[in-house]
Amino acid sequence: MNAVLDRFRRPLGSLRISVTDRCNLRCRYCMPEAEYIWLPRASLLSFEELVRVAAAFARNGVSKLRLTGGEPLLRQGLPDLVAMLRRIPGIQEIALTTNGLLLAPLAVPLREAGLDRITMSLDTLQPERMLAFARSSHHADALAGLDAARVAGFRNLKLNTVVVRGFNDDELVPLVRFAHERGVEPRLIEYMDVGGATQWRQEDVVSRDEMLSCLADAFGGAMPISHDADPRAPARRYRLGNGAVVGIVASTTAPFCSDCDRARLTADGTFFRCLYGVDGIDLREPIRTLQSDAALEELIAEAWRARNDRGAEARVGIAGRGILVQLEGLKADPRREMHVRGG
Ligand code: GTP
Ligand code: 5AD
Ligand code: SF4
Repeated sequence: MNAVLDRFRRPLGSLRISVTDRCNLRCRYCMPEAEYIWLPRASLLSFEELVRVAAAFARNGVSKLRLTGGEPLLRQGLPDLVAMLRRIPGIQEIALTTNGLLLAPLAVPLREAGLDRITMSLDTLQPERMLAFARSSHHADALAGLDAARVAGFRNLKLNTVVVRGFNDDELVPLVRFAHERGVEPRLIEYMDVGGATQWRQEDVVSRDEMLSCLADAFGGAMPISHDADPRAPARRYRLGNGAVVGIVASTTAPFCSDCDRARLTADGTFFRCLYGVDGIDLREPIRTLQSDAALEELIAEAWRARNDRGAEARVGIAGRGILVQLEGLKADPRREMHVRGG
């Protein structure tokens, strides 16, 4: 399969599908506001429509799918969707990014449906911190979700932690140990100034360099792994002094746009070419007006060929860098929210 190339010759390779904009957490770095404007229910793509769109992406070179949200497990019947997506020719891998609260009962059905990988978010090991930071008292459910995923036989589990200064930067070492003890790969993520991060401040970002120095002190070294398995993945991986591996996603201080092969689809069928992208391409109207699969495929190809986004790179070095979108802008266009465009 020859993948379609964008203006910087980056191939289209993966698609992040946000299956719902709803979430059962209110993490401060993603959904800190009191109220949100939700996508109208009638605008959400059905499973059949999602499969049609994903198949058109696959014909343009996509081989990896990642289901995100909001919280994707809030979407009823997700294992059925996984099973349907599994049948698309050219799709080699389906992954899920979840906060894990609803994972315990769903881990086995997802595995049986053909889900390959799970990445779970966990920002603190302290339940009372989760209450303050994400307004949830369900820390134990998240831990149960992770255990259930291991028992269900998922390999390559990853644990995502967004590091925010003054909140959880004192937990890097315990979180990394926690993951390693469970055979899970920990990933530390720099706090990004994307859509929903309306309280973002440069001072709150803990840089990759700072994280590495903390890990090197605690574990006796942190060396980059030179031949990474997937050079297009956002995380760079490091081997710690004790032999264990940690991933760091440095979108804020060291972005990786030059390797970016990711497309994003919102739950209402809007196609974004970048996490920071302003203009989305509506795919819902074309599929609901019964355009042919070939026309849908060409619409996607044409949009990707015109792609020149390097959103995160463009933000590096902005003097007095502040939040990306003011609240009024988010209210006017909820698709600019992180939880709508799939993280
Ligand atoms: P892998 O397949 O395991 O490499 O997953 P992933 O790292 O692509 O996905 P995940 O959902 O775990 O995201 C990890 C972090 O990377 C989150 O903070 C995302 O917001 C961020 N991220 C994912 N894709 C992109 C991207 O294209 N650009 C930027 N700047 N950040 C991204
Ligand atoms: N900065 C960094 N990562 C973020 N995520 C959500 N908002 C932000 C932000 N402002 C992460 C979630 C999840 C992934 C999909 O995106 O924690 O791991
Ligand atoms: Fe890709 Fe945009 Fe993220 Fe850069 S900021 S890596 S172009 S999605």
